[in-house]
Amino acid sequence: MKIGILTGGGDCPGLNSVIRGVVRKAILDGHEVLGLRYGWKGLLDKDTVNLDLRSVSGILPKGGTILGTSRTNPYKKENGVNTAKENFKSLGLGALVAIGGEDTLGVAAKLSQDGLKIVGVPKTIDNDLEGTDFTFGFDTAVNIVMECIDRLHTTAESHNRIMVVEVMGRHAGWIAAYSGIAGGADYILIPEIPIDIEKVCSSLRKRHERGKNFSIVVVAEGAFFKEENVCLQEKKLDEFGHVRLGGIGHTLGRLIEEKTSFETRVTVLGHIQRGGSPTAFDRVLGTRFGVKAYDLIKEGKFGRMASLKGKEVIDVSLEEATAKLKTLDLDLYELASIFF
Ligand code: F6P
Repeated sequence: MKIGILTGGGDCPGLNSVIRGVVRKAILDGHEVLGLRYGWKGLLDKDTVNLDLRSVSGILPKGGTILGTSRTNPYKKENGVNTAKENFKSLGLGALVAIGGEDTLGVAAKLSQDGLKIVGVPKTIDNDLEGTDFTFGFDTAVNIVMECIDRLHTTAESHNRIMVVEVMGRHAGWIAAYSGIAGGADYILIPEIPIDIEKVCSSLRKRHERGKNFSIVVVAEGAFFKEENVCLQEKKLDEFGHVRLGGIGHTLGRLIEEKTSFETRVTVLGHIQRGGSPTAFDRVLGTRFGVKAYDLIKEGKFGRMASLKGKEVIDVSLEEATAKLKTLDLDLYELASIFF
């Protein structure tokens, strides 16, 4: 059989571990693997590359994706779905592994209902995909942010400053909460709970009254003030209807300085969180997901997605996994707020 594989949406560390997992197991069983370049675009343009043992040699520690990625949505292209179906056939694909987040896998779910033999692998640093305890990429992002918070601590303390750190997390505060707890943040702001600026400032004042002369505030890019909308870098929508977020850190920093008179600085971590080598956890999870994706194909379980539940890698329906987003577990936020 010829098995196709693609990576779509924002890249993240661990994508190459999945690709390697699929290719190694499929070749071991005597199949061929065809990489589709730049996500769904590769299927629409028939832009492909053969993946053999040599192509995946040495890619495990590499960040990004050897296949390239894009946010192409076949459902937004003229004749996109028919082209996808025709190309699937003319490329001789027996099955396809789609690696992505809510958008890429949302397309995979629909195409699978339309009769294409597709299985999914959940990816996103945001960890906001329903149906899996964790997505790969999240652990690496959290560790990067944690290290940055550690570094910001020493400069904050030296200058008696408040440091606001803006992290990724479009709809969910997973990165903010995990990195904030791990880095000992003094306040964490997430998209799930609108920002109450008076509460933030009063907590920071109390901390300084206790004798602390610096503070670290972690804010997710998707967090917003009670009476306002999310901060945007650009209003233009991508093919999945998303705007470009960013800017909440600066607005927050300005307000905190104004209201508390504590000198404040802002760091926006941005794509640093998505780049570079994956952690051991993400390499192992990516490898397990890749092998599972191949096994799902072997078992004919199309329309399913590899998923981590506790210690087990199981499979869940692509349709259910993409029906809604997995927002932050608020018990975890309550635990984090013990330290505010
Ligand atoms: O992968 C998800 C994410 O990291 C979001 O947190 C963020 O809003 C988005 O990607 C930004 O992606 P890009 O700059 O690639 O459009």
